Amino acid sequence: MNESQPQALTTRKRAARLRRLVRELFSDRSLIIASNRGPVTFERSRSGKLRPSRGSGGMVSAVSAISRYANPVWICSPMSSVDREMASERPGELIPYSTKDYEFRLRFVVTDRESYDLFYLTVSNPLLWFIQHYMWDLVRVPTFASEMWSAWQGYQRVNQAFAEAIATQVASEGNHSIVVLQDYHLYLCPGVLAPLLPADCLLSHFVHIPWPGPDYWMILPVAMREQILASLCCNDILGFHTKRYVLSFLRTCESLLPGAQVDYSAQTVKRAGKTLLVRIYPISIDVRSVRRVAKSRRTARERDHLLRRLGEQTILRVDRIDPSKNIVRGFEALDLLFERYPEHLGKVRLLALLVPSRLGIEEYRKYLDEVIVATQRLNLKYGDREWEPVKLIVGEDYARAVAAMQLYDVLLVNPIIDGMNLVAKEGPIVNERDGVLIISEGAGASQELGEGALVVSPYDVVQTAEALHKALVMSPGERARRTATLRSIIEGHNVGDWLYDQLVDLSELQT
Ligand code: F6P
Repeated sequence: MNESQPQALTTRKRAARLRRLVRELFSDRSLIIASNRGPVTFERSRSGKLRPSRGSGGMVSAVSAISRYANPVWICSPMSSVDREMASERPGELIPYSTKDYEFRLRFVVTDRESYDLFYLTVSNPLLWFIQHYMWDLVRVPTFASEMWSAWQGYQRVNQAFAEAIATQVASEGNHSIVVLQDYHLYLCPGVLAPLLPADCLLSHFVHIPWPGPDYWMILPVAMREQILASLCCNDILGFHTKRYVLSFLRTCESLLPGAQVDYSAQTVKRAGKTLLVRIYPISIDVRSVRRVAKSRRTARERDHLLRRLGEQTILRVDRIDPSKNIVRGFEALDLLFERYPEHLGKVRLLALLVPSRLGIEEYRKYLDEVIVATQRLNLKYGDREWEPVKLIVGEDYARAVAAMQLYDVLLVNPIIDGMNLVAKEGPIVNERDGVLIISEGAGASQELGEGALVVSPYDVVQTAEALHKALVMSPGERARRTATLRSIIEGHNVGDWLYDQLVDLSELQT
C-alpha cells in the first residue's frame, strides 16, 4: 500500500482519482494483462451459440476491475476446447469481449496439450503451488527425477509462448505498452520478454500467493530456482500482498540468487544492471460489485433456498477444495466444539460451500475424498434423522456463495497459508447478521482484518474450537462492533485502491 495515499477518501472520489490516473497513464500507452486463467472462457450451447462464462478465482475478479477504466488486451491460456477452436480459427486476432461491467480484448496463447499439462498439472500446481503454501511432506516428496525436468521444459515452453505472444502484441499496439503479468504460472516470462520489449515499455508482475523464505525455496534444484529469481528480477516492479512476502522475496534473492544486490530499506534488488522495485499491494474486493450481486434476484432465490438448510446458528466456509484451505482441520475443530460444548448440538450447523479444483492432480482428488469422508464421519457421529451438523454443497455458484455470506453467524476462514483470501473480505461486506469472522493467521487478510476478527492458528484445532464457541455466544454489541471495524477496513481499501497504488508506482517510473 502506498502509505502517502489518504485512506479516508470517499468511494466516488477514489474512483475519480483512479479514472484520472488511468487517463494520464494510458493516453499514449496500451495496457496488456497476461495470466494463465483469463477473464472469460467460452462453451457452445446445443444450438451452437457461443456461451461465455466468467473465469473463476480471486485474481480474475480483482484484475478485471481495471477494465472499467482502461480497455486492456488480456493474454491468457485457452481453458476450453471452444477457446482453442476460436484461437485457431483466428490466429493472432483479438477477440473482443464485453459485459455491463467489463470490456477486454482477448488473445489466447495456444500451446500443445502435452506442454500445457506439464506446465499446469506438474510444475505450476503442484510443484510451485505446494512450495509456496508449504505443502510438501518433505520426507517423501518432491523428488526431482528426469520426469520433473521434462515437466520443467513444458513450463519453459508455455512461458516462452506467452512471452512471444505479449511481444507480438506490444509491437502491434505501436506504442510503449505497460505489461502486467499475473502469478506463479508466468515466473519465466519476464526473463524471455524483457529483452524483446522496447526500452520504454514497463513490466510489472504480481504474485497472488504467499512467498516463503529461502530455506523452503531450496527444495527446488539450483537451476530452477535461479531461473525463476533471475527472471522475476527482469521486471520493473514485483508486487505481493503483504510485507512478510516482500521480505521473504528479498531474503530469497539475497541467499539464493548469485549477483543480486538487495537493499531492504529501498525494497529493491539490483542485478545485471537492472533495478527491480519490490512492493506491497494488498489486493481487495470490488465492494460495489459484491453489493450489487448481493441485491440481485438470483441471490435472493438462492437465499430463500438456503434458509431452509440452516441451523439456529450457522458456521459458513466457502473454499476451493485445495489442501492449503485446511478444510479437514476445520471439521476437527467442529467435532471438538460439539464435544466440549454439547449445548450447540442440534442447533449449530456448518454450511460448507466447496468448489472442486484441479482434479487432474492426484493430491486434489485425494483431498476431495478426505473432505467427503470427514463430513460423513461428523454427520454419523452427531447427526440423526432430523439433524445433520454439516451440510456440504459441492459446486461453483457465486450467487449462492454470496447468499450464504449474507446469512452466516460465523465465517470460518482457516487456511494453512493463503496469499490474501478474498472470502474474508466479501463476507463482512454482505453479511446481515453481524456474523463473526474467524481467520487463520496464515491468511494474508489476517494482517489487515485481525483487529475485527478472531485470529487462530490453522494447526491448533483446540484454539479454533474455542474461537467457534466464543463467536457463537458473543454478545450482539460486540458482534456489531467487530462488524463495523471489519467493514470500515475493507471499504477503506477497495480493489480500485489496489490498482491505483500499482499505477502510481508505474507512472513514477515513466521516462
Ligand atoms: O492466485 C491464486 C489463484 O490464481 C486464484 O485466482 C484462484 O483462487 C486460484 O489460484 C485459481 O486456480 P486455478 O486457475 O488453478 O483454478
